[in-house]
Amino acid sequence: MAQKQLRSVRGMNDLLPPYSDTWVYFEAQCRQQFAGYGYREVRTPVVEDTALFARGIGDDTDIVSKEMYTFADRKGRSLTMRPEMTASCVRAYIQHAIGKQEPVTRWYYIGPMFRYERMQTGRYRQFYQVGIEAFGIAEPSIDAEQIAMIYELYKNLGLTELDVVINSVGGPDDRPAYRDALRAFLLPMRDELCSDCQRRIDINPLRVLDCKVPSCKQKVADAPSILDHLGEASRSHFEGVQRYLTELGVPFRIDAKLVRGLDYYTGTVFEIIATGDTLGTQSTLVAGGRYDTLVENLGGPATPAVGFALGIERAILSLPEATAAAAATVPDAFIATRGDAAHTYAMGLAQRLRRAGKYIELDHRNGSMKSQFKRADKLSARYVIVIGDDELASGKLTLRNMDSRDESQVDEAALVAAL
Ligand code: HAM
Repeated sequence: MAQKQLRSVRGMNDLLPPYSDTWVYFEAQCRQQFAGYGYREVRTPVVEDTALFARGIGDDTDIVSKEMYTFADRKGRSLTMRPEMTASCVRAYIQHAIGKQEPVTRWYYIGPMFRYERMQTGRYRQFYQVGIEAFGIAEPSIDAEQIAMIYELYKNLGLTELDVVINSVGGPDDRPAYRDALRAFLLPMRDELCSDCQRRIDINPLRVLDCKVPSCKQKVADAPSILDHLGEASRSHFEGVQRYLTELGVPFRIDAKLVRGLDYYTGTVFEIIATGDTLGTQSTLVAGGRYDTLVENLGGPATPAVGFALGIERAILSLPEATAAAAATVPDAFIATRGDAAHTYAMGLAQRLRRAGKYIELDHRNGSMKSQFKRADKLSARYVIVIGDDELASGKLTLRNMDSRDESQVDEAALVAAL
């Protein structure tokens, strides 16, 4: 009986060359950009205790209630494959008492996250995030600095159609009054909301503002604005964020309906949305905000914190072709050889050129000169170095520029400079 062909799990994709070139390039750009602002890399386990996400992200969020990959291990412990990494970072921050070692901590991470979501372009079940978290700074300038940091990176990568949206969801002091006002607004329309929202009115009315059901979205269009319910501290923080964003040259707009899909946010929340048409409805490239109570809620010392995460798939889908092309790795040279003696010499030559930092290809398969040139073309090699008996005898190698098709004779010592 024919065996069923094994395939990757739905919503979880293989990342293969040449597309992986663009990923590696994008990640390197992120690392370089973040390093300039003092962020250092952390790696935490993919799997965590389920309670971390339930308590950290919030039981009533879509992520926790519908989308987690949760399973029992062999001892019956409930484990979850991380749907995001902020909760993991906070867990690590508390576990290693980082706050006792340094007053300010800036971390970044790159890695896979898992959410059982309905799939579409830009939305997958295993997807990759680059994210940052800053602990220990309560001032609004860091919120603005984070937004500016990623905004500038995207602009430098040629992503220009960007909409920076900010809001404040208020702190613990502002929330109760707003929650009451929102509940009073929602109660009369209870029967017209989806069953999830009917439940949310009582336990977590802010979640109604984030409901994806179109009829609910329409219903909450005129809901009271959180911005009218901010206390003095939250208002002045939010004004500070706007002032610094202006100083940093980041154009932004305020959307009082932006609440985000995770419960831990306090104060500033923000998203960067792609306004081009490559992503359809999944156009949020970057999302984040402040979570000043999460460290304490998960058992650590009261610590202000702010961060964001971006989806790598969405970033790559939005990159202009020229940027993606620049990311492609092409050989500096391809060495084409004729005969055993030439191949032996070429092995050593390739090694010496690679030591000088060059990307060198050579064909080990003993093919014809024609097939080797074909391969060099396919790989878009910049140069082909030709070595046959004549070249070995004279010590002069033939160097062909694959763009201009110009040929010159050079000795090995001149090769690195020529490449
Ligand atoms: P999030 O909004 O859930 O926030 O995700 C951040 C970004 O990850 C999204 O804007 C999107 O680009 C990408 N993303 C989310 N889900 C998917 C998916 N299923 N497929 C592809 N891409 C996706 C967080 O995760 C927070 N931890 C962000 C944060 C960090 N807040 C503070 N610090």
